[in-house]
Amino acid sequence: MAARINISIIVIALSLSATFATLTHNEHHIAQYSYDGEIGPSKWGSLDPHFAACLTGKMQSPINIVKQEVVFNPRLEPLTRDYHPANATLINEGSHVGLHFEHDGGVLIIDGKNYTLKKMHWHSPSEHQIDGIQYPIELHLVHIANDGSISVVAILYQYGNSDPLVDQMKDHLDQLAKEVCESDEESLIPVGLMKPKHTKRKSRKYFRYIGSLTTPPCTEKVIWSILGKVRSMSKEQVALLKAPLDWGSKNNSRPEQPLNGRRIELYDELKQQ
Ligand SMILES: *[C@@H]1O[C@H](CO)[C@@H](O)[C@H](O)[C@H]1NC(C)=O
Ligand SMILES: *[C@@H]1O[C@H](CO)[C@@H](O)[C@H](O)[C@H]1NC(C)=O
Ligand SMILES: *[C@@H]1O[C@H](CO)[C@@H](O)[C@H](O)[C@H]1NC(C)=O
Repeated sequence: MAARINISIIVIALSLSATFATLTHNEHHIAQYSYDGEIGPSKWGSLDPHFAACLTGKMQSPINIVKQEVVFNPRLEPLTRDYHPANATLINEGSHVGLHFEHDGGVLIIDGKNYTLKKMHWHSPSEHQIDGIQYPIELHLVHIANDGSISVVAILYQYGNSDPLVDQMKDHLDQLAKEVCESDEESLIPVGLMKPKHTKRKSRKYFRYIGSLTTPPCTEKVIWSILGKVRSMSKEQVALLKAPLDWGSKNNSRPEQPLNGRRIELYDELKQQ
C-alpha cells in the first residue's frame, strides 16, 4: 500500500516536472521532438496542439525537386540579399545547431518586401532533394519580415573543400560539443562578429516554391528559395556540426513531403529577360 502511494507520488512529481520543463523550454519548441522513434517526424503533429500543421498541412517542406517538372518563371527576380557582419550566438538546440543574429544580419528582398536574416541552421543529410539526390548537408537561412512572414534560403552542400562560414566558428563548435557532456541545458556560445557574406554569393539559379518550416510547428506559407548551385563542405566540418546534437537528431532531416499540386518555379539568370 505504502509502496503504491509512493509510486503515484513519484508519477505525479515526474509529470509535474515534465510539464514544467515543457513550459520553460525555449519558445522555438514547446514540446520536445526528435528525428527518431516516439517523438520522430511521423509523430510531430500529435506532440503538441501547436504542431498540428506538421500532420494536417498540405503545403509542407521539404520536397524533392524534380527538374523536369519545374516551371521557368520569367517574372522571378534575382535574389537580392544585403547581408552585413553581425554579432551572433551559436546555439545547440539538441535537434539542430543554429547561429542566431542578435540584431539582424541584413535583409533578403522579395517583391519589394524586406525579410530580415534572423538565424541559420544546418540539417544533415539534406532535407531538399534534387531529382531524388540527397546531399550530405543543407544550410537554411531564415528571414522574417515585420509582419511575421517567413522566407528561407536553402543551400545544399556536397563533400569537398571546406566551407568558409563554418570555418569562422570551428573553435566555437568544438566548445559546443564539449559542453554537451557537462550539462543538459541548451548551450549558447557567443561567436562575435560573423560575416555571412559568402552565403550571399550571386545565385544564377534558384528554385522557388511555397512550403513550411521543416521543424515543428511546421508553419506554412514560407517562401522557399533553394539555390541551384551546390556548394562544398569538408567531411570534418559536417562531423563538427553533428557532434553536439542529441542521439535521436544526429541525422536531422525531415522526410520528403507530398507536393499536393504545388508548382516549383525556376529562376535562371541566363534565360531571364
Ligand atoms: C559586437 O559586439 C561587440 C562586443 O560586445 C561590440 O563591441 C560590437 O560593437 C558589436 N558589433 C556590432 C556590429 O554590433
Ligand atoms: C530594405 O532593405 C534595403 C537594403 O538594406 C534598405 O535600403 C531599405 O531601406 C529597406 N526598406 C525598408 C522598408 O526597411
Ligand atoms: C545517419 O545516417 C547515415 C546514413 O545516411 C547512417 O550511416 C548513420 O548510421 C545514421 N546515424 C544515426 C545516428 O542514425
